Amino acid sequence: MTTILKLNSSIYSDAGQSSQLASQFVGALLEREPGAQVAERDLAREPLPHLDAARFQAFLTTPEQRTAEQTAVAQASDELIDELRAADVLVLGLPMYNFGVPSQLKAWFDHIARAGVTFRYTEKGPVGLLTGKKAYVFATRGGLYAGTPRDTQTQYVRDFLAFLGIADVEFVYAEGLAMGDAPRTASLAKARAAVQNLAPPARLAA
Ligand SMILES: Cc1cc2nc3c(=O)[nH]c(=O)nc-3n(C[C@H](O)[C@H](O)[C@H](O)COP(=O)(O)O)c2cc1C
Repeated sequence: MTTILKLNSSIYSDAGQSSQLASQFVGALLEREPGAQVAERDLAREPLPHLDAARFQAFLTTPEQRTAEQTAVAQASDELIDELRAADVLVLGLPMYNFGVPSQLKAWFDHIARAGVTFRYTEKGPVGLLTGKKAYVFATRGGLYAGTPRDTQTQYVRDFLAFLGIADVEFVYAEGLAMGDAPRTASLAKARAAVQNLAPPARLAA
């Protein structure tokens, strides 16, 4: 049975364009495997705090030496990691806000990048520990950036996921959403068609 983690990072939760494209794709996956498990995390509805020195110190402290407060911080991070570790497929809604990823998503990244837990350093460099997964990213933007040096998101998200061991990542873009009604409608229609034509993960393709 396939386990899917759907992550919304739009400030509009389910109503965000990125969340809607992600939902469409989850729906397509469920048509292939009705029994697939779907976990959904909405980073706007349940925002994570910014990473600060105290929280990072909790990660660095060994479990036996953590204070009660540090234990709670580490446990909350462990839960996020366990949820991702349990998933075969990550489906991520990725809006562009102010030229970057939503701060809610950055906070999630900051809480799942844990040395010795999700990556480790070796003499050959970092090795991601969350292998065997496939990620699909639904990127929505008011303007046009894909394929240009002004796209601050694609390489960053690819690099971050690869750092954790998730190197198989596909993007679908809906761009120009703030460029007028006709371009917006056309762009969303194109993105929806692309979602419908996305190849499912290999485990669901048979
Ligand atoms: C606060 C805010 C900042 C935004 N900044 C950008 C931006 O820097 N570049 C851009 O192309 N679009 C920008 N947009 C437009 C969004 O990318 C667009 O509305 C997209 O649909 C957002 O995805 P969502 O509907 O899933 O939230 C911004 C929208 C908001 C609300």
